[in-house]
Amino acid sequence: MEKNDYSIGWEALRKEAVRAAEKEPLLGSLLKQMVIEHSSFELALTAILANRCLFVHEGINLHQAIAEAMERDKSIAQNAMYDLATIVDKDPATGNFLEPFLFYKGYHSLELHRVAHRLWLDGQRYLACYIQSRVSQLYGVDIHPAAQIGKGIFIDHATGLVVGETAVIEDNVSILHGVTLGGTGKETGRRHPTIKRSCLLGAGATVLGNIVVGEGSVIGAGSVVLHAVPPHSIAAGVPATHKGNIAISEPADSMDQIFDDYVI
Ligand SMILES: CC(C)(COP(=O)(O)OP(=O)(O)OC[C@H]1O[C@@H](n2cnc3c(N)ncnc32)[C@H](O)[C@@H]1OP(=O)(O)O)[C@@H](O)C(=O)NCCC(=O)NCCS
Repeated sequence: MEKNDYSIGWEALRKEAVRAAEKEPLLGSLLKQMVIEHSSFELALTAILANRCLFVHEGINLHQAIAEAMERDKSIAQNAMYDLATIVDKDPATGNFLEPFLFYKGYHSLELHRVAHRLWLDGQRYLACYIQSRVSQLYGVDIHPAAQIGKGIFIDHATGLVVGETAVIEDNVSILHGVTLGGTGKETGRRHPTIKRSCLLGAGATVLGNIVVGEGSVIGAGSVVLHAVPPHSIAAGVPATHKGNIAISEPADSMDQIFDDYVI
């Protein structure tokens, strides 16, 4: 499917939910409330995000807050569909829209961040922080509402992801669990990393400071990156050093985590 083809994605998601409800009737009520009874992807997305974020009643109408943010900013739902299609493309563990939409905490955390970011930009700072705090408590994913995140992002497993206030993640980046995009504690203002498009950040990678990881680069699992990483290269180790250049332009697409497969 063309990732920008929004209506095809929504139709596929709905059909999968109907089929799943027939096959697994015990999930019928969940599938109905989260997908089947809705007339658009935006409404279904609002339902799943509100449901996944607010498990206890705290006197906050989160459903309304999410719906209003999505009404003001159409790119939230557009990017959310693009992210979903990206997961279907990239994740070898799934082959459908329904699973990530209902169950992937990386997906829920990312889309709730998109809502929190809109609220932050619109001056609803405390509501934005409420969402950040709930996502952090529930999923162990702590993304500052001011962080700028592009589309086509795949956050696999997600647990332990930390993204600081001035971090930038461009389009089509893939991120495994335990990644930190943090500050060194020595800088003020712009103090977090920029991850250029199509990078792959291995599990447990820690990237610190106002540095740029160049387009299409790969950071090895468990690395501590303290300096800029050139485009289309591999950095790994503690502290990370240059391990080679990459023959393919989009390592985040292939999700190939074996260096020998593409080092030149
Ligand atoms: C701040 C920090 C990056 C180092 O700052 P520093 O003390 O000024 O050290 P420098 O950057 O000058 O580095 C000194 C040496 O130690 C190495 N080094 C620094 N931090 C390192 C780390 N975390 N692991 C391994 N080596 C490290 C550097 O490569 C450098 O080695 P070299 O002299 O052979 O080139 C480090 O102390 C750190 O990791 N702080 C915690 C930051 C953090 O957790 N942020 C997350 C916020 S969410």
